[in-house]
Amino acid sequence: MFKSIFAMAACALALTSASAYGAQTQSPIRIKFAHVVADTTPKGQGALLFKRLVEERLGGQVEVEVYPNSSLYGDANELQALRNGEVQLLAPSLAKFEKYTQQLQVFDLPFLFDDLSAVNRFQKRAKGRQLLRAMEDHDIVGLAYWHNGMKQLSASKALLVPGDAAGLSFRIQPSSVLQAQFQQLHASAQVLPFAEVFDALKSAKVQGAENPWSNIYSKRLHSVQPYITETNHGVLDYMLVSNPRFWYAIPHRIRSELEGIIDEVTYEVNRQAEAANQADRQRIEASGSSQVTVLSEAQRDAWRQAMRPVWQQFEAQIGSDVLKAAQTVNRKQRD
Ligand code: SIN
Repeated sequence: MFKSIFAMAACALALTSASAYGAQTQSPIRIKFAHVVADTTPKGQGALLFKRLVEERLGGQVEVEVYPNSSLYGDANELQALRNGEVQLLAPSLAKFEKYTQQLQVFDLPFLFDDLSAVNRFQKRAKGRQLLRAMEDHDIVGLAYWHNGMKQLSASKALLVPGDAAGLSFRIQPSSVLQAQFQQLHASAQVLPFAEVFDALKSAKVQGAENPWSNIYSKRLHSVQPYITETNHGVLDYMLVSNPRFWYAIPHRIRSELEGIIDEVTYEVNRQAEAANQADRQRIEASGSSQVTVLSEAQRDAWRQAMRPVWQQFEAQIGSDVLKAAQTVNRKQRD
């Protein structure tokens, strides 16, 4: 008797929480997927491919609405909206999770990963996979890593040696590591939402920024930054996230199908991201609006030496196990 009352109560509770988070079995499950970049970027394309595959395979059961360009939520409020159940999928850049876990700051450390392939290897290994679950206590569950690309430095003046950045103000994402990185260059840093970067550069509120080619091109940042240095000094990647109370309330059969779709989309996004960034790099060069500087190995090493002290500064809060695991994925081992 007690057992069956308990079972009925548990069942009622499960249904209530599923419907509260939109995962009813009767009406279609509605997934709002919000992000802050253009449809043409690796993340924008990934969101659209996810929507298309869900419509093809789960039409009538799941509906996906994609909101690009900060049109539903922006950097300042999207994670809180996810935690409140107002949006169901996001793919913030890894720098934007600092409030919920410090371990992900490993991705912001300058010159830690040699290239996107090294980042990929770290994300696939056990430590990288563990980080997907690091924020569940905050109602954020990681479903996949999506690549954008390596970051380049842009500015109102040519940046050849680290000293060239001194005295400039750079727009950064909300990350203490990125702030420290610019402090190492004797530059200052201002946290601004992605949607405000173009205007801030145009009005000279800040004089520089760091972004992958796809973000520079899609937001026309090159039209207000006459100099771009190909530093490849850090990575800008994403974590596709949902609210675990929503995600795990989706009926198992549907959730398995969604997870399969996410695997396919992740494969496509990550396969195409590097080529998409290189194509945008060429478009920027062809536009003639910015001078693109390619560093020699020695010049790049000088930038690496200037920024490298940031690792020690953040090792304790990131965790030396995480940092070590990330260091091992590069082909060339460095100290
Ligand atoms: C994004 O790619 O989602 C935006 C990154 C940024 O804020 O610079």
